[in-house]
Parts: sequence; structure tokens; C-alpha cells
Amino acid sequence: MKNILVTGGTGFIGSHTCVKLIENDYNVIIMDNLSNSKAETVDKIEQITGKRPLFYKADMLDTSAVEKIFQENDIFAVIHFAGLKAVGESVQKPLEYYSNNLTGTLNILSSMKKHGCEKIVFSSSATVYGIDNKAPYTEDMPTSATNPYGYTKVMIEQILHDLTIADADFSVVALRYFNPIGAHKSGLIGEDPNGIPNNLVPYIAQVACGKLDHLRVFGNDYDTPDGTGVRDYIHVSDLASGHIAALKYSECNKGFRPINLGTGKGSSVLEVVKAYEKACGKEIPVEITPRRAGDIATSFADTKLAEEILHWKAEAGIDEMCADSWNFTLKNL
Ligand code: NAD
Ligand code: UFG
Repeated sequence: MKNILVTGGTGFIGSHTCVKLIENDYNVIIMDNLSNSKAETVDKIEQITGKRPLFYKADMLDTSAVEKIFQENDIFAVIHFAGLKAVGESVQKPLEYYSNNLTGTLNILSSMKKHGCEKIVFSSSATVYGIDNKAPYTEDMPTSATNPYGYTKVMIEQILHDLTIADADFSVVALRYFNPIGAHKSGLIGEDPNGIPNNLVPYIAQVACGKLDHLRVFGNDYDTPDGTGVRDYIHVSDLASGHIAALKYSECNKGFRPINLGTGKGSSVLEVVKAYEKACGKEIPVEITPRRAGDIATSFADTKLAEEILHWKAEAGIDEMCADSWNFTLKNL
């Protein structure tokens, strides 16, 4: 069985990917410092799959801790989720974001090189399309960013690209996620942010269960069908399957390859609210407020490349994503 090191494996997307990896007969080794997740997630992954991943509570900034994992295990490939991800916080704490995301990634790459591990699947983001491109986004569009978090993704993609030029044996797939939502069907793992959520669906979930009063809709004067922001929401389990496809691709292809993971369809804020109301059987009170700084009108993926080269396509629609989010919310009140 191939050993896959999953950095950030107890996090939202990482935990769903660990489940899929185990279901696809990979041996999972998780490294996470638990800065934004809980150790119990390892138990939940075991409960779902019947197999317990090996877990290292370790910080990727700690070079000797990273090195120890590579010394103790023969790592076939790395799926690299670990990172700080809050856009607003990154504007307040740029040094922390650059240090954690960039230095952490460099540490992992150094250990990979030292131990002859040459395959990595990296968590990039649709945020690298910046504000000047027009949806649907294709992978050949120029990348840019508007905040430190986004720049860490642009810069890490550049580092990875440079690495594949210097070392022709390296295989890098940079997966550009659109808006992952939903949860595992079991309701055991899902998205559980600390404090008041920044993202739309976790916020709606807290309104639906009465923890928050109402949703503020950030602007209804965009150039979109109902005036509210349009995004490409993708079920986290579909996203997780995309990583298995990317891993298989990296086994037979070298070089740097950025690939979008989205559904190719956009939903507006008000459409998501409707779908969530259907899922939870309650009304979600909304207030229209001014636009949020930095938001764009419309973002959705061109999915042709993923279909062509990964043979992967997202399956779940927005109703199923909201139903699974609500199931997780109810089971974790
Ligand atoms: P998450 O916060 O749930 O998971 C990230 C994990 O990384 C957490 O468990 C955290 O504890 C861990 N981590 C952070 N810094 C670490 C460090 N120094 N050492 C070890 N572990 C560390 O986030 P997520 O939503 O699962 O996102 C995973 C990846 O996907 C991130 O890189 C994120 O930027 C990227 N991404 C997420 C989204 C999204 O909307 N969720 C969209 C695009 C890209
Ligand atoms: N929105 C609201 N009210 C809220 C929260 C969000 O109206 O309380 C709106 C936003 O204005 C936007 C849409 O809902 O139109 C989605 O917003 P999110 O914050 O959920 O997601 P974003 O598209 O802004 O950003 C997310 C991640 C980024 C990532 C990007 C692309 O937060 O890190 O998706 O993957 F880069």
C-alpha cells in the first residue's frame, strides 16, 4: 500500500480526502498542528472507514518534526492542505500568513527532495484568478491576488512551477478549488469554523440553527441575474474525489499542472439561501447590506481540463450540498 502524507489532514477538506484515500486503498499519514482542527477528527475518519490513519501532531514550520515524518515513513506522495486560509485575517497578519504558508511549504518540499519523494498535490484556490479575468476561468489565464492569503497561493504555485523546471522528475498538481461546502453523508465530519464564520454556507448554517440572528447579504447590485454574488459551490466529497484523480495523474505525469476543481455552475447568494431553506425547512432571515470589500460579482470554473485529464467531474448539486451541511450541523450542535 502506498503511503500518502496528508498535511492539514484533520481540516475540513483534508479529512474528507483522508476518507477517500482510505476507501481507495492508500495508507494515510496525517500531519497537522491542530491550529484550526481537532484531534477527534482522526477518530471520526476511523469511524467512517474502519481504518485509523497514523497521526503526527506537528507544525510544518518545525523542520525537525517534518523531517522525522519522512525518516519514519516511506512517503510515496504528499497532499498538501496545511495552511492558514482566512482572507480578512491575512490582511491583518500578513507576516504570519507568508511565514506559515510559504515557509511551511518550503520545509515540506525540502524534506520531499531529501527523501526522493517527488509527487505533490497542492491546495490552490480560485482566488489566483484575481479580479481581472472573467469567468469561466481557464487554467491558462494569468494569476494574481488582492490579499496576502491569495498571494501565498500565487507564490506557492510559482515555487512549485520553478521546482518542476529545475527537477524534471517532480510531479506537481495544483488544484484550484472553487467554493467547497457540504459535509460527509455520515454527518461525522464537516466544516466547523471557530468563532463567527466568514464564509456564506457556515454562516447560513448558524442562522438556521439559531446561533446567529440573520444573514447579511453583501450587496444586491452586482451585474448578476439577481444582483447578488455568484460562486461555484462544490461538494467537499466531490472535491475529495478530485484529489484521488489528481494523485493517479501525478503517478504517470511529471511537471507542473494547475487544474480547476469546480462544478462549472454558479449559484447566487439568494439561490443558496433558498436551497438551504429547503434543506432545513426554516426561513433564513436576510438583510441586504453594502458589498464586502474585495468581493467580485461572479466566479465559476471552466471544468474541461479536469474532465479531460483527470477524468473527474463533480456530481452533487447545490440542494444536496445544503442538505449535507444541515445534516452535519444538526449532528454537531
Ligand atoms: P482547514 O483550516 O480546515 O484545514 C487546514 C489545516 O491545516 C488545519 O487543520 C490546520 O490546523 C492545519 N495547519 C495550518 N497551519 C499548519 C501548520 N503550520 N502546520 C501543520 N498544520 C497546519 O482549511 P480547509 O478549508 O480544509 O482548506 C485546506 C486547504 O485548501 C488550505 O490550504 C486552503 O487555503 C485551501 N483552500 C480552501 C478553500 C475553502 O474555501 N475551504 C478554498 C480554496 C483553497
Ligand atoms: N456572502 C454574503 N454574506 C456572508 C458571507 C458571504 O453575502 O455572510 C457572499 C459573498 O459576498 C460572496 C458569496 O457569499 O458573494 C460567497 O462568499 P464566501 O465568503 O463564502 O466565499 P468567497 O467566494 O468570498 O471566498 C472563498 C474562500 C476563499 C477562496 C475562494 C475561492 O473564502 O479563500 O472562496 O475558492 F479563495
